[in-house]
Amino acid sequence: MSRPRLLITRQLPEAVEARAARSFDVEFNHSGAVWDRATLLEKAQNKDALLVTVTDRLDAATIAALPQSIRMMATFSVGYDHIDMTAARKRGLPVSNTPDVLTDATAEIAILLMLGAARGATTGAAAIRDATWSSWAPTGMLGIQVTGKRLGILGLGRIGQAVARRARAFDMEIHYHNRKRLSPQTEAGAIWHDTAESLFAVSDVLTIHCASTTETRGLVSAARLALMPDEAVLVNTARGDIVDDDALIAALKAGRPAAAGLDVFNGEPNIHPGYRTLPNAFLLPHLGSATRATREAMGFKALDNLEALFAGRPLPDPV
Ligand code: DGY
Repeated sequence: MSRPRLLITRQLPEAVEARAARSFDVEFNHSGAVWDRATLLEKAQNKDALLVTVTDRLDAATIAALPQSIRMMATFSVGYDHIDMTAARKRGLPVSNTPDVLTDATAEIAILLMLGAARGATTGAAAIRDATWSSWAPTGMLGIQVTGKRLGILGLGRIGQAVARRARAFDMEIHYHNRKRLSPQTEAGAIWHDTAESLFAVSDVLTIHCASTTETRGLVSAARLALMPDEAVLVNTARGDIVDDDALIAALKAGRPAAAGLDVFNGEPNIHPGYRTLPNAFLLPHLGSATRATREAMGFKALDNLEALFAGRPLPDPV
């Protein structure tokens, strides 16, 4: 029996591609390039399924233009804001994502960003690399200690909870805002805020873990940033568009918040140039899930879902 024809839009870890090649008749993209819409649509011809990533824009027009042969789309990511789900549903196109397997890796990056931003890692690392470090100084390069401070988590889902567990090792008091209060067991002592404003006002460190949706885009605004306490730190490992870049850059220039640790940006990789020169911004290039083990697990999860569809089983991770 012929195997389903699968298009994989980016190069994936070797072990994932090897398994994909065993289960599917695969067309890979080993060019290193992100395909534009026209190329993606051309490559999708005569395929049965797509395995896409966060760098593919599956907007309504692209989904409508996909060949009728496409029966499913698996995204190599937990986030699916790059896929117009209304259009996918309208077309009856099942979509799967990769929850759970990147929770720990992303939580680690959130902690790295919190510490890197709070302790001025950008300035310190630059002093070493530029050979401008002249001496240890009692008053030089003073950062912010996070131990015992209040950590606000915007979106206490899987990743937010994993960050909370790690932050408790720093004796941080955990606060969160979700639309609905979680069960006491899930809260594990975290203090619920019914509004984002109330959370911003108490967060010495505020870390973003909500999805990018019409409600959360631009949520980190000038008005909300102004509510943060003195010497606050903002961390974002979720999505760039939750933050209003102009507002955050202006706020960081004014030292309120005192620092930010960012792994995700609007318009990646062409980020707002204003970030690049801010000494109090600790910046990483979307590394949340970037470990070999995690990326392999994400690929295997995507394949689990694709294999389930073609075997007539329910998708393990439907969106
Ligand atoms: C995701 O999975 O949504 C991340 O942003 C990419 O790892």
